[in-house]
Amino acid sequence: MKDATPSMVLLSEYRAPDWVVEDLDLRFDLDPASTRVESLIRVRRAEGAEAGAALRLHGRDLELLRLEVDGKAPESGAVTTDAEGLLLTGLPDSAAITVETCIRPEANTALEGLYVSGGTLCTQCEPEGFRRITYFPDRPDVLTRYRVRLEADASRYPVLLANGNRVEAGELPAGRHYAVWEDPFPKPSYLFALVAGDLSCVSDRFTTRSGREVALEVYVEHHNRDRCAHALASLKRAMRYDEDAFGREYDLDVYMIVAVEDFNMGAMENKGLNLFNAKYVLASPETATDNDYVHIEGVIAHEYFHNWSGNRVTCRDWFQLSLKEGLTVFRDQEFTTDCTLFGVKRIDDAQGLRAFQFPEDAGPLAHPVRPDRYAEINNFYTMTVYEKGAELIRMLRTLIGREAFRRGLDLYFERFDGQAVTTEDFVDVMAEASGRDLARFRRWYTQAGTPRVTARTHFDSRVGALQIDLEQETPPTPGQQEKHPLHIPVRLSLLGRDGRVLPARLEGAAEATEFVVELTEEAQSFRLSGLREAPAAVSWLRGFSAPVRLDAGQGTAELAHLVVHDDDAFARWDALQALLRRAVIARIGSEPDPVLEAALTTAIGALLEDSGIEPVVLATLLDLPSHRELMESFERADPVAVDAARHAVEQAVFQPLAERLASGAPDPGRWDDGAFTAEAMGQRRLLNRILALRVAIGAAGAVEDAVRQYREARSQTLAMGALAAVNDSADPARGELLADFERRHRADPLVLDKWFALESGSQVGDGLARLERLLDHPGFRWSNPNRVRAVLGPFMAQNHRHFHREDGAGYQRLADYLEHLDSLNPQTSARLAQPLTRWQRLDPARSAQMRQVLERLAGKDLSPDLADVIQRALAR
Ligand code: BES
Ligand code: ZN
Repeated sequence: MKDATPSMVLLSEYRAPDWVVEDLDLRFDLDPASTRVESLIRVRRAEGAEAGAALRLHGRDLELLRLEVDGKAPESGAVTTDAEGLLLTGLPDSAAITVETCIRPEANTALEGLYVSGGTLCTQCEPEGFRRITYFPDRPDVLTRYRVRLEADASRYPVLLANGNRVEAGELPAGRHYAVWEDPFPKPSYLFALVAGDLSCVSDRFTTRSGREVALEVYVEHHNRDRCAHALASLKRAMRYDEDAFGREYDLDVYMIVAVEDFNMGAMENKGLNLFNAKYVLASPETATDNDYVHIEGVIAHEYFHNWSGNRVTCRDWFQLSLKEGLTVFRDQEFTTDCTLFGVKRIDDAQGLRAFQFPEDAGPLAHPVRPDRYAEINNFYTMTVYEKGAELIRMLRTLIGREAFRRGLDLYFERFDGQAVTTEDFVDVMAEASGRDLARFRRWYTQAGTPRVTARTHFDSRVGALQIDLEQETPPTPGQQEKHPLHIPVRLSLLGRDGRVLPARLEGAAEATEFVVELTEEAQSFRLSGLREAPAAVSWLRGFSAPVRLDAGQGTAELAHLVVHDDDAFARWDALQALLRRAVIARIGSEPDPVLEAALTTAIGALLEDSGIEPVVLATLLDLPSHRELMESFERADPVAVDAARHAVEQAVFQPLAERLASGAPDPGRWDDGAFTAEAMGQRRLLNRILALRVAIGAAGAVEDAVRQYREARSQTLAMGALAAVNDSADPARGELLADFERRHRADPLVLDKWFALESGSQVGDGLARLERLLDHPGFRWSNPNRVRAVLGPFMAQNHRHFHREDGAGYQRLADYLEHLDSLNPQTSARLAQPLTRWQRLDPARSAQMRQVLERLAGKDLSPDLADVIQRALAR
């Protein structure tokens, strides 16, 4: 491997910067083949820094044309060049440093730094891309004011954008023009952005609650002008929500969003100039599904919310990444809950956490929410830092209450405005605002792994009290054998025989119907008193109050009671998932449990009859536990057998309900309006789920219904629902519909990605041969992350039969593709490699195959990004 022992960055070695950057003046002479960057950095020795302290300027793949200190070439020996960049010694206490570099945007396939997408010049700097543009102290705790002058050919690049406000613009000789931008807010280099292109601007306005007029501008390729309305509407909703729910207002006169086709991630929160993957901006009912609409709204809100949680208050170092990402995910989840998805959002998030973060936390890549070491920071934009990080924020709110939490947040933004801080600082303000001792809670940030909580109850009928015994244990994770007890809020209610919640008193407090017990020790007991009857069921972990695995030892009858009666949408869904999981596990032991399956049919039948359940919740209740989650139930499992058992349970449980499903399905014609309303989206989610179920169980007329739904669909939601329903079906209709879809959408890359994903994920036919054909399709490009993800992602995530071929050919093929991708785009190859890291959880034969493939890959000349993932995956 190229980097056999990549050097580790350690949190314990953090040192505050020795130099303050007073301000920065950047001049870009833009050209795709070769761009010249002139930088004037005014620095001053920081208070408390040693007199001889050197100035570190990071730089990567730069051609250095000129370096001057106070207008003169530095003395010989004053500049050292190393793998990180430049080190300047012998500087006076303050100095003006001029750096001129040359970079090659066109040759930049990594999509970090300055690169070209569809003819547009654009940047991606987080976390360490700025050093690919110019030499600079590229670390988040160095904040400064930026003045940026852009110069380019006027006809090729009529639009010139950077952070902040445009203060000057004009024509230049030889068909060139320029613009000067100033950002009044000091910022770290990772928030720098520029864009130069021939783009259309779709604009709107927003008045903040204190009366500031903000111009909202979305920049897209000209032909996409008519697909921006949803993005703009989402932005306005997010701006209003941040004022209403968090008291946060926007702070510049303009907010710009630029959509580009080639982007490694979803989007980036650069100050005043967000860059977006086009798939999270562009939408029309004919091209985007309801899910796409919800995601677009969520990503727009997320990047907007960063203006406070990330930009105004930023991270001291990258170990603190969750400070901005966990908090901002929490904020966007709240937004989507309150504005769009309501009750079902918590279920979606809990399901996502269990399916993706729990496995990460149980595997070779496990790390704490605040890691303490990394080889490649790009590999730490993880489910743990993001989603578990958001859960920690939510638990804090549960523990200290909504009012104290809001006071804490206000204090956080006020006290640390303009600073680069740590997750400790965040917990400190929460402790200060609430007066609570959060010492034990802090362990959540430093301890990896998902805690297992065991719960047992005992009802004492003589005194009408329920004793609750809780225990916690966190399994060891790589590099962390010893685990300590955490502060875990367990929210619960008791249900009576009639299904209603029972009032009781927790430890003598006032009577209530919902309780939060705080588990802080390895084992603890609690008492609910004042009960007039024995509870028929305990509704545990309501609202998914903590990211833990809970084992309450509940029997089928108790869980079925919760499925029918629980008023907490998450707990109800969770009870049904537990029953379904049990049924699948029984089938994998090759002994179906007919009693359990019949109980499931009965309980689900009751749900279908219950008109009180909202369609969107019902649709979610009808989901089986995902393949990924089911794999988690075993130490080792055969992924193809798990898939088969999952389908067998689906058939057994739902076949007796075929008629009720058909009659209970909303009418596609009635809801095919593409309206972005909670009601319409809920109805469409339900009708698509029922269609998929009916096809899966082989219900009479189901394939015909799917064909009709596809042919008559006006909205993409219904078209995709029909295609997804038949995608694993052996019926020839599948091929016909998919071919039709490809013909219709081959010119539209974002829609074509849906076709790529369906074809790659389909288990019918010869999956490997089809994968090869997809890569030869004229719409496929290795240089575009969306295309690559659409073709390779679903193959690994859904095509169990072909990815997990017993001869290992699926793994080998993927490894070959990843090696090729790695030579172009290391960030994307490292992310896509994740499914190849789970070899320890597969049956012995496949496990050996996957490990062999990883070892072969480890011997290749890989990027530090991919090398780091593979090394950790193989470490024992
Ligand atoms: N700051 C990130 C973008 C980013 C991630 C830059 C990794 C560099 C490396 C941005 O705020 C973000 O988190 N985007 C998410 C989407 C969001 C809705 C969670 C993304 O891009 O996936
Ligand atoms: Zn983010």
